[in-house]
Amino acid sequence: MEKIVALCKRRGFVFPGSEIYGGFAGTYDFGPYGVALRSNVVETWTKAMKDHENVTLIDSSIFTAPKVWEASGHTAGFADPLVICSECRSKFRADHLLEAVGKKADEKMTETEINKVFDESRKQLKCPTCGKKNFGPVRLKKMLATSTLGVMGQDDQEVYLRAETAQGIYINYKNILETGMFSVPFGVAQVGKVFRNEISPRQFLFRKREFEQMEMQYFVHPREAAGEYEKWKQERMTYCREILGVSEKKLRWKKHEHLVFYAKDAWDIEYEFPFGWAELEGIHHRGDYDLTQHQKFSGVDMSVYDEETKERFIPNVIETSVGVDRTMLMLFCEAYAEDEMNREKRVVLRFPPKLAPVKMAVFPLLRNKPLLVARAREIYKNIKSKFSGMGSMILFDDNGNIGKRYRRQDEIGTPFCVTIDFQTLDDDTVTLRHRDTGEQERVKIIDLVQKLA
Ligand code: GAP
Repeated sequence: MEKIVALCKRRGFVFPGSEIYGGFAGTYDFGPYGVALRSNVVETWTKAMKDHENVTLIDSSIFTAPKVWEASGHTAGFADPLVICSECRSKFRADHLLEAVGKKADEKMTETEINKVFDESRKQLKCPTCGKKNFGPVRLKKMLATSTLGVMGQDDQEVYLRAETAQGIYINYKNILETGMFSVPFGVAQVGKVFRNEISPRQFLFRKREFEQMEMQYFVHPREAAGEYEKWKQERMTYCREILGVSEKKLRWKKHEHLVFYAKDAWDIEYEFPFGWAELEGIHHRGDYDLTQHQKFSGVDMSVYDEETKERFIPNVIETSVGVDRTMLMLFCEAYAEDEMNREKRVVLRFPPKLAPVKMAVFPLLRNKPLLVARAREIYKNIKSKFSGMGSMILFDDNGNIGKRYRRQDEIGTPFCVTIDFQTLDDDTVTLRHRDTGEQERVKIIDLVQKLA
């Protein structure tokens, strides 16, 4: 992990948030290559969702009426159990400490209940920072982040920053139905920022306080919900393996033993990160909890008519939910490698070409030969003009010897490098070098773009 974090900063993928002010816990900023990688992650996910005829996209607000979060149950139930070491003041999640000694803390437990389990285990519980066994009481810490909106002072209102994109979909479910584009079953997908007051943001992009989710809510008749749940579970695992190219042995399923307040069933796809197996994506069967709650709190009828039974029903929701940041961390972990090429050690990010932020780098063999440089610039501009997307960078590099330029591109995961030499001036061919094998081939300039397709 340390090597990945250092590489991400050095090469312009990810910077610590507010670094010149000493940092700001749980935040990271994305640099030039980070933005491009991020965009490829989002685009790949969006395409997979749009491939379903009955799945559409929306973009809802981060600020909503505060009642949304009362209805959803987040104001009351979305909390983590916080415990502070009385010796060194380090803060921990009590459920994580309990899990480490083989005790389970149920997410449905009240503060009193979790304190009881914690007190029974105190003799075994050591502070991971100072090693002492002296914790204060467990307190349930609300995770909704708040802000204040208002103009005059007296009309100031406390509002919540969304903690999941899902609620923005539920409150628009009727609007989407009323457009007539879809009838149940149909899905609504959304990508957007969410905010959580995490007790212990950690492990780089894994647990942040401001992060981005890619969520899809599939509205289905209750009698079809179990079958659809299985289909979506399989689809999401296949997506990780086949579309993101993650190795099979690094992925596994984990069933939630303790369900969050909204779920009827929940499974996680876990990835083996350098710090151990951990949740990458959650696939949840949310039943009719959310629509029923919003019906109750808003007074708006959320039911639809069933032609088959001639009865009205509230659809069940199958949710797939994954973080952009966590996906990026997984991709860094999958791609990072140290190997030897031409008897030199190198660091390489073996991103699948469609996810790589830089698709191709173009080099003139020598920077002091104006004819080579001019031809290289021309080729570079031509290729660049064909890749306008945020996630498809084409670079020009004439700095240092060719070996050094290859190393730099390997470190950012560029799958192809193109060198323009004297032969290019004669026959319009270039040397194309492949990142993973170091193999070089002579190709025609007109065939270059096709290599990137
Ligand atoms: N709508 C359901 C929901 O939000 P979740 O398990 O709390 O469920 C879903 O979050 C996904 O969001 C996780 O699987 C993970 O990929 C990502 N995620 C959750 N908390 C995160 C955090 N603090 N930092 C980065 N990603 C996070």
